Amino acid sequence: MPVDPARVTKKLFIKTYGCQMNVYDSDRMTHALARHGFAAVAGPEDADLVILNTCHIREKAAEKVYSELGRLRRLREARRDRTGRDMLLAVAGCVAQAEGELLVERAPFVDLVVGPQAYHRLPELLARRARASGAVVDTDFPVQSKFDELPEGRPAGGVSALVTIQEGCDKFCTFCVVPYTRGAEQSRPVADVLREARALVASGARELTLLGQNVNAYHGAGPDGAVWGLARLIRELAGIAGLERLRYTTSHPRDLDAELIRAHGEVPQLMPFLHLPVQSGSDAVLEAMNRKCTADGYRRLADALRAARPDLALSSDFIVGFPGETEADFAATLRLVRDVGFAQAFSFKYSVRPGTPAAGLRRQVAEPVKAERLRALQELLDGQQAAFNRSCVGRTLPVLFERPGRHPGQLVGRTPYLQAVHLAGGHGHGLAVGDLAPVTVTECHPHSLAGVLAPPAGPAQEARA
Ligand code: SAH
Ligand code: SF4
Ligand code: F3S
Repeated sequence: MPVDPARVTKKLFIKTYGCQMNVYDSDRMTHALARHGFAAVAGPEDADLVILNTCHIREKAAEKVYSELGRLRRLREARRDRTGRDMLLAVAGCVAQAEGELLVERAPFVDLVVGPQAYHRLPELLARRARASGAVVDTDFPVQSKFDELPEGRPAGGVSALVTIQEGCDKFCTFCVVPYTRGAEQSRPVADVLREARALVASGARELTLLGQNVNAYHGAGPDGAVWGLARLIRELAGIAGLERLRYTTSHPRDLDAELIRAHGEVPQLMPFLHLPVQSGSDAVLEAMNRKCTADGYRRLADALRAARPDLALSSDFIVGFPGETEADFAATLRLVRDVGFAQAFSFKYSVRPGTPAAGLRRQVAEPVKAERLRALQELLDGQQAAFNRSCVGRTLPVLFERPGRHPGQLVGRTPYLQAVHLAGGHGHGLAVGDLAPVTVTECHPHSLAGVLAPPAGPAQEARA
């Protein structure tokens, strides 16, 4: 076979920030570049190409990119002085999309700026950079989806794998950059998702997390010519032999329809743990955020989900200090948290994002007020999380083992609620990574649980496993 000159091995390091979709994209970029002679390495020191896959969601996240670029520039220069070997610096992800040419103005030493919808063009962009004298910027939203053009087949993703099924967002919450950085909602065709899912399961995945910025707005073209919603896709995926668990994230309360709620009660592979961001408990704030879901609407959804699947637990996202948020609004958020009860949550101070509608609102909330509200909210949420974890002690939960632990024979896995569980002597029981087994939780630590293998399941339990 003729040797492809492009296959000379170069070293690639990708640093990933932000959400799981960036994790997935980094994986696909790694795979696409492997075909062009790039081998992934663990750090930037020895890399020929460093890609920062960035996040623009809050100011802090975006600013981190510039400090990291400064560090990489010094590393590159020191290496060039020492060995004469160069390093290409690329910025991908949502900061690349949001800032484009601006990024090159602020960091002129960057070689390549590539938006999330242009990753399939990376090899071509690198070739263009080799010919150009300055930075190459590609932040176009192509008509053709990147998924159609990125090569299929990825490195084995481990026991738990991610699959992007939907990208972009049309919701335009007034605080959020995602509709601008990721573009309009786009769903992958059902056949593509099924093919990727089957390949992942064949290479060892036992759990799949379906990803989308607004994943329950999924409306993919089905093989039968009909448009499939998320519930139908989940039922089809649940039929893949060897696939034990399904999750999806992130969902929007607005698109959580009755069919999806029913699937939670009927599809055993669908885990009873749902990340359903609410953002605020005040209707006035929710309206100003353009969330199109009231606090009571959210309470009703939580009730309906728990009616369908009584052991379901919820996690959520909250923003405090949205412009105009009063003490009474904030009190309504605390009330909602107490009413619904969350097993886990992320909470943030509102961060002004350039170009979003909320950035122009008057009545911005003062920083110390935001800080105090965040503290109070996190105290309440942390207490709920700790109580939820404690409530698991004594329960027997199915655990999917993902990796060996630090101690000999120990295995680490996850419960349906994504809690890490350490099982001593797992190998002694003939268990291995990738196995699913019932574990009785015996201890609860701040970041994990410990347990012992439960006695072999009786017929009743087996039927539910
Ligand atoms: N698509 C998801 C969330 C995407 S961003 C949804 O609709 O909920 C993840 C979280 O970041 C959001 O849920 C929100 O809580 C937070 N976030 C987004 N923009 C923010 C901003 N400008 N300031 C503070 N937090 C923000
Ligand atoms: Fe952002 Fe709202 Fe879309 Fe979520 S639904 S990505 S918060 S605009
Ligand atoms: Fe961040 Fe973009 Fe994800 S802004 S949260 S990386 S979609």
